Amino acid sequence: MGTDRGRGKRVCIVGASGKLGQYMVRHALERGYEVVGVCRERSVPKLAAYEGQLTVVPGATNDPEVIRRAVADCDGVLTVLVPWGVQQYASGTAQAVLDHARPGARLVFSCGWHITKDGQDTYSRLFKLGVRAAAVLGRLVRAVEIDDQVEACRRVFASDTRWTVVRGSTLEEGESQGLPVWSRHVGDPVLASDLTRRIDFALFMVEALTDDSLVHEAPAIVGCRTPSALAHTG
Ligand SMILES: NC(=O)c1ccc[n+]([C@@H]2O[C@H](COP(=O)([O-])OP(=O)(O)OC[C@H]3O[C@@H](n4cnc5c(N)ncnc54)[C@H](OP(=O)(O)O)[C@@H]3O)[C@@H](O)[C@H]2O)c1
Repeated sequence: MGTDRGRGKRVCIVGASGKLGQYMVRHALERGYEVVGVCRERSVPKLAAYEGQLTVVPGATNDPEVIRRAVADCDGVLTVLVPWGVQQYASGTAQAVLDHARPGARLVFSCGWHITKDGQDTYSRLFKLGVRAAAVLGRLVRAVEIDDQVEACRRVFASDTRWTVVRGSTLEEGESQGLPVWSRHVGDPVLASDLTRRIDFALFMVEALTDDSLVHEAPAIVGCRTPSALAHTG
């Protein structure tokens, strides 16, 4: 469903070729935003379905020069922070966006529940074990660098830009169910179902661009049709 909310506004999507990124491209175009997408050169074909509808800036998302060109004149920047590769990819990407986005731009970053802003999140033992195992295994195979996503978010939290860090639960594919519900802290019963449709994670990111109540918040989200959300929201 399209709205005119983005009409006359330009938004940059950093990591546009991934699954979350492509959903964000779709939502942003539907809302009338002019869209600039950044992705690795070899991933440009993944955006073929949107040819002519967005401007693609190919390159590494942690390359400051690539980001400087892409975010110029953007009213908002939606950034997918991924822990892939052992090369400070996430923190380099976040830093480039923080350094080059125009003053006052709305910056929205994605990550997972394992990120904590104020240390007030409470995690199950199983969740903590899973994160620790992923970090150790990832380092061993040099494919995943969870600690760097933590560093990326630390830099965002410390910045005086107009940021929001959206923390995703476990994700699944499927049709949209609507805007996810959120809480400031993992451990809140409303989040207990720990499941969100990826398309709705993207919806939350795009809607955050125009929701000033989310500035300097790190919402942990869950699908609005999940049992925990239905049980704990009016
Ligand atoms: N997956 C989950 O269950 C889950 C749960 C909670 C939160 N999240 C969060 O959701 C966001 C999206 O995650 P996702 O799992 O759904 O993935 P995704 O949207 O498919 O995105 C993966 C991204 O990583 C890039 N990438 C892959 N390999 C790379 C490499 N070696 N070097 C550099 N970039 C590489 C991809 O770029 P190319 O298109 O160029 O390959 C793509 O932009 C992340 O912020 C994640 O923390 C995910």
